[in-house]
Amino acid sequence: MILITGGAGFIGTNFLLDWLAQSDEGVINLDVLTYAGNLENLVSLKDDKRHIFVQGDICDSILVTKLLTKYQPRAIINFAAESHVDRSIQNPEGFIQTNIVGTFRLLETTRAYWSTLENKIKQKFRFLHISTDEVYGSLASGEEAFDEDHRYMPNSPYSASKAASDHLIRAYHHTYGLPVLTTNCSNNYGPYHFPEKLIPLIIVNALAGKPLPVYGDGQQIRDWLYVKDHCAAIRQVLEAGTLGETYNIGGRNEKPNIDIVHTICALLDALYPRANGKRYHEQITFVTDRPGHDRRYAINSKKIECELGWKPTETFETGIQKTVQWYLDNQSWVRNVQSGIYRKWIDKNYEGRTL
Ligand code: NAD
Ligand code: TYD
Repeated sequence: MILITGGAGFIGTNFLLDWLAQSDEGVINLDVLTYAGNLENLVSLKDDKRHIFVQGDICDSILVTKLLTKYQPRAIINFAAESHVDRSIQNPEGFIQTNIVGTFRLLETTRAYWSTLENKIKQKFRFLHISTDEVYGSLASGEEAFDEDHRYMPNSPYSASKAASDHLIRAYHHTYGLPVLTTNCSNNYGPYHFPEKLIPLIIVNALAGKPLPVYGDGQQIRDWLYVKDHCAAIRQVLEAGTLGETYNIGGRNEKPNIDIVHTICALLDALYPRANGKRYHEQITFVTDRPGHDRRYAINSKKIECELGWKPTETFETGIQKTVQWYLDNQSWVRNVQSGIYRKWIDKNYEGRTL
């Protein structure tokens, strides 16, 4: 088995669904279910014995020790995090707790478990930490894309907390020999993305006839990767990555935010025209910029491409088309998120399921 944390969130959900579609190896999914954790995402796994959901916190060393002892996973993948930059600006405390203290506790608990393993199993064990390109800071236009040796210069409480967690991962390898791997990925998009992040927010607001908020001048650049390509990269790093190394993952899709918003509007015009005959881009509203807003991220993925043979399969054009279509096909998922009903899935589907 493997143990993943944060498997009810956006990337964790996609990873879990893809993993179980491709492998019979079971997954223990430890997720505390913050506002970002949605068990409705995993309803297709309800009767699937390969998925063991446990509601709990990565900071809870007693619980994590119990899970490790009981299920003896061969690997841990740490997706759990507070992940939204704007929330980290409003209220950084939770980011320090989960992203830094939580990663530290998970490392300590894992180290204790790993040190008891028999040599052969110990050598095969992996701890894969999922991180972000935001730890590298902001690039000026024309500057080279981030490679794995780029210095860390995080600018938001979110990226600073992820940077701290990356440093802990590195230290546990260097000091204790813990078999760790780290991935630093660019902005993901795709199904099950919580509608507080740019792409799902624009789709959902557009359909609801609401303003489409663009921060500042809309010229900030992100490198966008379709989430399923990220999941494939994670599987590849888990199986073949070199211990102690980090791998940058990106989509070679650098785009200014305003272009992303216009692309979504054009797709919606074609797929779901407004009843009043107006065009979706008329809803675009420029709003006050995010404090400390990073201007540009860009990823150099040569290392994972050359060493592990990974490449993204989706272009931005194919990925965004699939994403917009997914939100059109899953409007009840959006409604349940917006009304808060999704939080009731805990009671409805998982009552009584414990260790
Ligand atoms: P998300 O916010 O959608 O999901 C996070 C999940 O972690 C939720 O299910 C939440 O309930 C769970 N969680 C939070 N705190 C926890 C705790 N203390 N214990 C157990 N579970 C907890 O995030 P995401 O977008 O799926 O991101 C997953 C990981 O990938 C994060 O580490 C993030 O930093 C990283 N990442 C995200 C992106 C992106 O574009 N979304 C890009 C690169 C890296
Ligand atoms: P976001 O999806 O929050 O990801 P991140 O900040 O981690 O890159 O934002 C992506 C970009 O979109 C970022 O430059 C901020 C911008 N943005 C808007 O312009 N309007 C919005 O309403 C949001 C949520 C983001």
